[in-house]
Amino acid sequence: MSQYSDKVMEHFRHPHNVGEMDKPDGTGHVGNPVCGDIMELYIKVKDEIITDAKFKTFGCGAAIATSSMVTDMVKGKNIKEALEISNKAVAEALGGLPAIKLHCSVLAEQALKSAIDDYYKKQGKPSPVNPEDLKEDEHTHE
Ligand code: FES
Repeated sequence: MSQYSDKVMEHFRHPHNVGEMDKPDGTGHVGNPVCGDIMELYIKVKDEIITDAKFKTFGCGAAIATSSMVTDMVKGKNIKEALEISNKAVAEALGGLPAIKLHCSVLAEQALKSAIDDYYKKQGKPSPVNPEDLKEDEHTHE
C-alpha cells in the first residue's frame, strides 16, 4: 500500500496550475539544499487579491502535489489570507504527508511567501513577509 493519500497521488499524477506564467506580478524561487528540489511559483495580483497562481517544480512527487495544492488554495485569497496558509494546512488539505515528506510542504509554503515578497519588492513597498520564513531549513529534512 502506498504511504501517500489518494489526494496526494491525484495531485501528483494530474497537478493543477503547472507551467510558467506570462508576466507574473510576483515570482518565488525556493529550494531545499538537502534534497536539491527546486520550486518556482508565480502569482498575479489585482487589488490585493491573488487572481492566479502557477508553478514549476523540479522535485519529488510530494513537492509536485504540494505545489499543486498551494496554488489551488491561494487563488481568490487576499494577501493577508495567503500569508496565513501554512505548510501544515497544505499537507492537511492533501490528506496528510508521511513525516519524512513534510519538508516538501514547507517548500510549497516558502514558494508562495517568496512570490508575495517579490510582488511587494516589485511595487517598491515594504514586504509583509518575515524573512525568517524564507530561510532554507535544513532541519526539516530527516
Ligand atoms: Fe525534497 Fe520533496 S524530497 S521537496
